[in-house]
Order: sequence, then structure tokens, then C-alpha cells
Amino acid sequence: MLLGGKHGIVFGVANKRSIAYACARSASAAGAHLILTYQNDRLEKGARELAAGLPGEAVAVRCDVSTDAALDDAFAAIGEQMPLVDFAIHSIAYADRSELDGGFTATSRQGFATAHEVSSYSLTAIAQRLAPLMPNGGSLLTMSYLGSERVLPHYNVMGPAKASLEASMRYLAADLGPAGIRVNAISAGAVRTLAASGIGDFSKMLDITKERSPLRRNIEAAEVGDAAVFLCSDMARGITGVTLYVDGGFHVTTL
Ligand SMILES: NC(=O)c1ccc[n+]([C@@H]2O[C@H](COP(=O)([O-])OP(=O)(O)OC[C@H]3O[C@@H](n4cnc5c(N)ncnc54)[C@H](O)[C@@H]3O)[C@@H](O)[C@H]2O)c1
Repeated sequence: MLLGGKHGIVFGVANKRSIAYACARSASAAGAHLILTYQNDRLEKGARELAAGLPGEAVAVRCDVSTDAALDDAFAAIGEQMPLVDFAIHSIAYADRSELDGGFTATSRQGFATAHEVSSYSLTAIAQRLAPLMPNGGSLLTMSYLGSERVLPHYNVMGPAKASLEASMRYLAADLGPAGIRVNAISAGAVRTLAASGIGDFSKMLDITKERSPLRRNIEAAEVGDAAVFLCSDMARGITGVTLYVDGGFHVTTL
């Protein structure tokens, strides 16, 4: 029970395949009390059902990260349900599908801005509102991908967005460390999810990963969830500003 008695928020549950849901399952199995967030009306029913089905019955709160007003509303609801928070997991990304097709050079101004705002700035926007709920310190975690540092087919504008996310994670770690708040990232291997379905040739990526990664297989979302539990727990109390790879070792391989 690494998270026994701890209170946490998991941002970005779309459905049962979501990495956020895998994190929620692992965290609730480890004893945490949870709030799950979902983006919009379309995802509300599913998110509420998934939250209710967790051990300890998590609460679901709507949180759209694309405007400050929507974030303020979400944090007002979160603060009412959970005035003290021990950990939060940010598992949110978005790029317009058209930006993930064709060459990176064709990236539009709006497509670049949207991908960075939703996938990267949202971590900082959440940290601003979260820190006051963590007066005794805590842990903030985000989800990244190898496309932040290597050129991977079709990842396009999400590559710079994830690089920005990882850099933001390090700056937040430096800012919030004196308050005892640790900030880290997991660089997850490829997992078939709703977000991943927007990336061209994703099945090919899964095949290549299986063939080349040291563990000779793809990872499961549950493995990310379990690593997230470790990083959010006191076992990781000395770790901040780190990107932990949960990718079967794929990041160490070359062609
Ligand atoms: N699936 C993979 O292969 C993989 C690998 C590495 C990292 N990741 C990262 O994991 C995270 C979760 O993605 P996933 O693969 O579980 O897919 P997912 O589609 O289940 O989750 C993405 C979430 O982002 C949310 N979102 C998008 N725009 C939003 C907005 N404006 N406001 C609030 N929420 C918004 C969606 O509603 C959804 O819940 C993302 O950061 C993704 O980049 C995924």
C-alpha cells in the first residue's frame, strides 16, 4: 500500500484504455483516494463509471485545460472534494490530426500553438493551482514520449510539444522543490489508446518496438501505472526533475 491514506488527482481519463485510467487503477490498488478528471460532456458518463468502479470509489470532475476559466472551475470543484492533495498525475495531450500527417515542415501556426498549449502549458497551469493544495509537499507527474528527443515517424508537432513538456517539468521541479513538491515525467513506450489512434502507422511502431526493445515486447499501460505509483510515493522522496523511461528499454536502441 505505497499510497495508503494519500489523496491524489489523475488528469486525463478518456476511457478504459487511457494511461490515466491505468494510473488510477494502480494508485487506488496502492491505497490512494482519487479524483479523476475528464475533458468534456462526451467523456463524462464513461469517466464517472470508471471512477465509481475503482476500489474506494473515486470522484470524477470535469477539467478542460484549454482555458484558465475552465481550469479555475475544475480546481474549485477539486478543492471542495479534496482540500489537501498529496500527488497529481497529468496525462493529457492533444494535436490536431492534420498536424500528424505529412511532413513536420508543414506544421501550421495554430496547430503548433494548440499542441503546445494543451500538451505542455497545461502542466504549468495545473502546477499553479495545485501547489496551494500541497502545503505539506507532494508529487506531480506527467506523461511524455521518446518523440521529445528523437525524430519518430508521424509524431511531428508532438515532438517539440513533449520536449517543451519535459523542460517545463524540470523548471517546475526547481521552482517547487523548496516547498517539498517533486515534479517528474514518465516517458512511456507505445500503448494503443485513443490519443495514439491519431498517429499514423502506429501498428508499425508497435511492431518495431517489439522487435528492437531490450525486453522484446511492447509495454502495458499497467506498467506505467505501477511506475507512477512509485514516483508519487514516499519511496521516491529523493527524486525530482527526472524523466523515467517505462518503455521496455526501447530508448537505448539504435537502428
Ligand atoms: N499511448 C501512447 O503510446 C503514449 C506514449 C507515451 C506518452 N503518452 C502520453 O500519455 C498521455 C495520455 O495519453 P493516452 O495515450 O492515455 O491517450 P488518451 O486519449 O486516453 O488520453 C489523452 C487525454 O487527454 C485529454 N485531453 C485532450 N485535450 C484536452 C483538453 N483540452 N483538456 C483536458 N483534457 C484534454 C483527453 O480527453 C484524454 O483524456 C498523453 O500525454 C500522451 O502523449 C502516450
